[in-house]
Amino acid sequence: MELVNEEQFKGRDFLTLYDYTPEEINFIMDFAEKLKDEHKKGITHHLLKGKTLGMIFQKSSTRTRVSFEVGMYQLGGYALFLSRNDLQLGRGETIEDTGKVFSRYLDGIMIRTFDQAEVERLAEAADIPVINGLTDLLHPCQALADIFTIREYKGKLRGIKLAYVGDGNNVANSLLIAGAKMGMNVVVCCPPGYEPDGEVLKKAYSTAESTGSKIEVLNDPETAVSGADVVYTDVWTSMGQEDEAQKRAEIFKPYQVNADLIRKAKKQCIVMHCLPAHRGEEITDEVMDGKQSVVFDQAENRLHVQKAVMALIMAD
Ligand code: CP
Ligand code: NVA
Repeated sequence: MELVNEEQFKGRDFLTLYDYTPEEINFIMDFAEKLKDEHKKGITHHLLKGKTLGMIFQKSSTRTRVSFEVGMYQLGGYALFLSRNDLQLGRGETIEDTGKVFSRYLDGIMIRTFDQAEVERLAEAADIPVINGLTDLLHPCQALADIFTIREYKGKLRGIKLAYVGDGNNVANSLLIAGAKMGMNVVVCCPPGYEPDGEVLKKAYSTAESTGSKIEVLNDPETAVSGADVVYTDVWTSMGQEDEAQKRAEIFKPYQVNADLIRKAKKQCIVMHCLPAHRGEEITDEVMDGKQSVVFDQAENRLHVQKAVMALIMAD
């Protein structure tokens, strides 16, 4: 069993859960649990007093923006919202130059953008930690909040079966990485041609060999959710794919998470969605507002896990 201490997190980027060991991921979640618990009791931890986080947004956001901004405030720091249109980045300044300049003012950068390579280039150029707040490829903060939520409800991750039904997108990719790392059984069920990223899958299969996790990609929703402890879905059309919305709405119709499908999973299964949801498309109102839905816990937990990540990587 690898020993973990807070020193080993200082100054690191958070670009993908692939860069963190299962023990480190557990350490972050234990810390998040403590922060959450104490926050509920009114105990404050100004672990990032005087520190500033820059938040670059090249795509829309409700949860990511608010949870990072509030998280920094609760940790005694400050967060700056920087939309693409307000930055010289939108007028051709390079991401590398932006990163070098930001390193002279800030203590950390959170970025939401299209290309994962842009996040990696920023991290390479910047001297301060960079956090991936979603790319077309990955959404690691979401996956961390999701496994934290599953741990809260199920008491463990190892051996838990998560069936993701829908598009093999950024959220599916990050869940595959998180699930493989933590010894979960992850089934991604999608229409042919909408599978998760090939490289991500390859890494998930090889990680699974050492963690005892099981990874599968299927096309039939009923088979996928059979025996599932967690049924997860996300929008059929992600940000940046708006032109394909109509075509996708047709293709994904058989993949809706509705009451009939949930009945095929374990009786005690929980239902998850990273939000925003397109009610009536990938998930019905009945399921989203039903007793098994934990979607708002997931949203809340973004705050707690991101506070843990920021406190660990941005602390002196
Ligand atoms: N789940 C998530 O990242 O939500 P936002 O797009 O609202 O940030
Ligand atoms: N897959 C969605 C997730 C939003 C949080 C998107 O990229 O739009």
